[in-house]
Amino acid sequence: MSKEKDAGVSIDPGVEESARQRAIIRELRDEFTQKGWNKTYWITTLGCQMNARDSEKLSGILEEIGYRRSEAEESADLVIYNTCCVRENAEQKVYGRLGYLKNYKKRRPEMKIALCGCMMQENLVLEKLKKSYPQVDLIFGTHNLYKFPELLQAMLSSGERIIDIWKEHGEIVEDLPSNRKYSFKASVNVMFGCNNFCTYCIVPYVRGRERSRRPEEILKEISQLAQDGVKEVQLLGQNVNSYGKTLEHPISFAQLLQEISQIDGIERIRFMTSHPKDLSQDLIDAMATLPKVCPHFHLPLQSGSSRILEKMNRHYDQARYLDVVRRLREAVPDISLTTDIIVGFPGETDDDFEETVKVVRDVQFDSAFTFLYSKREGTPAAAMAEQVPEEEAKRHFDRLLDVLKEDIHAKNETWVGRTVLVLAEETSKHDEGMLTGRTPHNQLVHFQGDRALIGSVVPVKIVENQTFYFTGERIPSE
Ligand code: 5AD
Ligand code: SF4
Repeated sequence: MSKEKDAGVSIDPGVEESARQRAIIRELRDEFTQKGWNKTYWITTLGCQMNARDSEKLSGILEEIGYRRSEAEESADLVIYNTCCVRENAEQKVYGRLGYLKNYKKRRPEMKIALCGCMMQENLVLEKLKKSYPQVDLIFGTHNLYKFPELLQAMLSSGERIIDIWKEHGEIVEDLPSNRKYSFKASVNVMFGCNNFCTYCIVPYVRGRERSRRPEEILKEISQLAQDGVKEVQLLGQNVNSYGKTLEHPISFAQLLQEISQIDGIERIRFMTSHPKDLSQDLIDAMATLPKVCPHFHLPLQSGSSRILEKMNRHYDQARYLDVVRRLREAVPDISLTTDIIVGFPGETDDDFEETVKVVRDVQFDSAFTFLYSKREGTPAAAMAEQVPEEEAKRHFDRLLDVLKEDIHAKNETWVGRTVLVLAEETSKHDEGMLTGRTPHNQLVHFQGDRALIGSVVPVKIVENQTFYFTGERIPSE
């Protein structure tokens, strides 16, 4: 299948394309009704919030066509894996599941298997799937996700395997059905792709160059969400600091936050991710002055060693990172700071690792995602000499976790006894009588409450510090 380019000039190609896909959805829906099909689907999502958002779109399209969510993967008529390739273990998981699904498909040949997401954008993966995984019926990538209705139709009508991967992105096509996980909070893409080329990271190769959605589109989507009862929006982009720079009418991310703040009904605005190298004072000021913007900042550190940061191509050093933290805290004194850290990057010595520990001790993060470095073929770091032996990386990793746990626990103690506003999200997985939600600082709080409270902002007194979450007691309203 080839990529069609739009020749029209007067119509936004994205709008025209979404109309075309919507027409295919209607055709499929009619076919499902006529044939009395009662098909089910199952989606497994790996990776980041971007993928989670993409899966909401896939399931929205499927439900509009007439598919229902399956009770179990094994009994679904269509199984989709929305894949991630940031680290190798996410890829291994997909190959493992494909082996397992092959047996189910033997028993039920009508089961269809589809793969999409970042992993599909890697040549080596695609070749391997083509050659050794004939059980896969449909493969598409990150740049043409919006073509899912058309590809699904082609797969269903031809009974043949369909593969459509674009090496580059086309226009941004957003206005398609989507089945949002929550009715009161939503993720909204503001930009796609990444231009940073951190030497360990595969994202720029699979998600393409940075491009921003137009602010009008974003504001329209969020206004509609607010009308539908959404209170909290999470703005998604690999590097929101670059938002809007390449638009026909450039606008900064801080300005975008300002405009979103004016939308009635939206109470909380979050965003991720920000790169420390180009965090503007504008954005820091916006955090301080816009009450709807939550006092939480995710600021990936990756390493505390200036030497390693340089090898990572991060464009900041330890001092600059600490300065950004200082400026954020100056503007929003109780801001909660979270981070990503990679352990075992090529050439990382004990001394480099100690620099990371030093920064972690200095900053006192509220939470952190820690990763063992994973070698990704095709990235510059994969070709670097001095790959760190696994045992050494693991030893550092465990020590880092110990330090983080100790510091996070100590920091959380200062919250015990305070009353926080929790947006109740769901019942606890372990106890139906308990609700789970998040504070503006993005802390997770469990408390006793009726499920009718889900979607409301509830005052809760924090009672116990469990390091990675709190338990609390609801303050009864007067
Ligand atoms: N190995 C380990 N962690 C990685 N990340 C990105 N690439 C790699 C890799 N090759 C981490 C970074 C990034 C987060 C989303 O994933 O910390 O911020
Ligand atoms: Fe990967 Fe760096 Fe881009 Fe983040 S900023 S997606 S770590 S290349």
